[in-house]
Amino acid sequence: MTSTDTSSPGQAATVFAEPAGTALSLLLGQAADPRSERGVECPGDLPAPSDPDLVARALAAKEKLGERVFILGHHYQRDEVVQFADVTGDSFKLARDAANRPDAEYIVFCGVHFMAESADILTADEQQVLLPDLAAGCSMADMATAEQVEQCWDVLDELGLAERVVPVSYMNSSADIKAFTGKHGGTICTSSNAERALTWAFEQGEQVLFLPDQHLGRNTAVRQLGLSLDDCVLYNPYKPMGGLTADQLRDAKMILWRGHCSVHGRFTKECVDEVRERVPGVNVLVHPECRYEVVESADYVGSTEYIIKTLEAAEPGTKWALGTELNLVRRLANAHPDKQIVFLDKSVCYCSTMNRIDLPHLVWTLESLVAGKPVNRITVAPDTAALAQAALEQMLALP
Ligand code: 13P
Ligand code: SF4
Repeated sequence: MTSTDTSSPGQAATVFAEPAGTALSLLLGQAADPRSERGVECPGDLPAPSDPDLVARALAAKEKLGERVFILGHHYQRDEVVQFADVTGDSFKLARDAANRPDAEYIVFCGVHFMAESADILTADEQQVLLPDLAAGCSMADMATAEQVEQCWDVLDELGLAERVVPVSYMNSSADIKAFTGKHGGTICTSSNAERALTWAFEQGEQVLFLPDQHLGRNTAVRQLGLSLDDCVLYNPYKPMGGLTADQLRDAKMILWRGHCSVHGRFTKECVDEVRERVPGVNVLVHPECRYEVVESADYVGSTEYIIKTLEAAEPGTKWALGTELNLVRRLANAHPDKQIVFLDKSVCYCSTMNRIDLPHLVWTLESLVAGKPVNRITVAPDTAALAQAALEQMLALP
């Protein structure tokens, strides 16, 4: 049976050692890894968070820019930022929204780095995508670097498996990983189309390499495609051959990368048991980035958009415990005062990198555009973008 362990990766040999810039090394004050999406200092003269004029400054800058700017806000963003978004959505919807605004000179992406990269890939060259804080990365995306994934592919190739393995990468990955996926004939997926992506992939080949979220991969394969837990193996990039034997790699249907979301990975089966006791009659609704045992013990499972729609359709007086990011849970609780909505965990659980985008950073970014000196532009190199676009377009074409 496969393990669902999400603890820190162990170290096997120098080449597999944890890179600087991961949580531990940042904690120890080591230099940021240039490959990491996190740990980047955001330059600039930011307004003070206590500035009472921040809302007025954001409004004024937005009004001056008019149709030239299009502001996207992910559902996990702070309310202070979401109030200025032209559209809100999950990562898939926002990428599509960005692609559908070819007239906007500037796309200000209030989300995280991989989302801004996807927007840059899907928009015209002359359009500029800006991320208000460069430190808004994603710990899950950081768990699969291009170098590690190439090493894994070499392992599969040496075993004669590369021909029959199809890579499927979650949207929550760097442009490099999306390019790898495109190069090897795979597809991108999101939490709302993972089942269709896996079904498609198993029509193209016999095995899937699923990157970087082990939980979404396992939950989809077992719960929606009917595979068994024994059909899944966990590839640990910090161990030679992923910590697996040749036979294990050969026999697996799903080769799951050992990555996880540090927000959704926190929910446990005990959280579910505890909330059922605390709130009798509660419906437990969780995101598929949660661990397998959490998803198994929940009543409903689905993407961010699914969670929002489920609550919209719920009867007044019903009770809900939500296993997803706290900014969204709080917003939903405020939007549905006729329903009892509680957070699945007892402790606070924001996405710390999503939360990097605050009003001072947004004001700074908008005012830089008014001054004609854009900051924090996100660009993906053309050769990477071309391969990544192929994988993204494969996702858009999924039956
Ligand atoms: P979606 O945006 O696809 O809902 O994914 C959740 C998430 O973790 C975003 O970072
Ligand atoms: Fe990454 Fe999880 Fe935060 Fe989404 S919620 S940006 S997957 S760490």
